[in-house]
Amino acid sequence: MKIRTLFASTLGAAALVLAGCASSSPSGSASSSAAPAASKAPEGPSARATLESKSGSTVTGTVTFAQLAAGGVRVHVHVENAPPGTHGLHLHEKGDCSDPEGKSAGGHFNPGSMPHAGPMAEKRHAGDLGNIEVGADGKGDLDIKSDLLTVTAGTYSVVGRSVVFHEKADDFMTQPTGNAGGRLACGVIQ
Ligand code: CU
Ligand code: ZN
Repeated sequence: MKIRTLFASTLGAAALVLAGCASSSPSGSASSSAAPAASKAPEGPSARATLESKSGSTVTGTVTFAQLAAGGVRVHVHVENAPPGTHGLHLHEKGDCSDPEGKSAGGHFNPGSMPHAGPMAEKRHAGDLGNIEVGADGKGDLDIKSDLLTVTAGTYSVVGRSVVFHEKADDFMTQPTGNAGGRLACGVIQ
């Protein structure tokens, strides 16, 4: 929920900036030319994971990773057929979802040997993506930018890791898992 608040305030700030532009230049041509410029931004390397149901759940979904030109990675998660509520979401260290309960994915992806924490904490596992909210329709989306991850090869690369969707909310405190419970879906990042 912290993430949503931060995104909301970022959007709010952007809206204020746009409003400021509009009031000083009522033609609106500046804002209409800004959109095509943004869409022309070169796309960097990307990776993807398909979430498969685990632990007897029906959860499915997709996760995409896009390397940003300015550094960091934008992560988009979409889940379906999930229990409504708040669910922990992490990158786990092993790209192996073969176990029926997802245990083969290992622990949280933590190349920096940090404590477990929330996605906005300075010291956290690189794989700590926080929580995703699932609605009454069983669907949920999360957009998050991480400055600790890369798509390109390296110690912090997401490729060859896995994404795990958990039974319960991540409390951002309990070590080393956030007490997020069972693994309801898992997907290898490719
Ligand atoms: Cu996890
Ligand atoms: Zn963690």
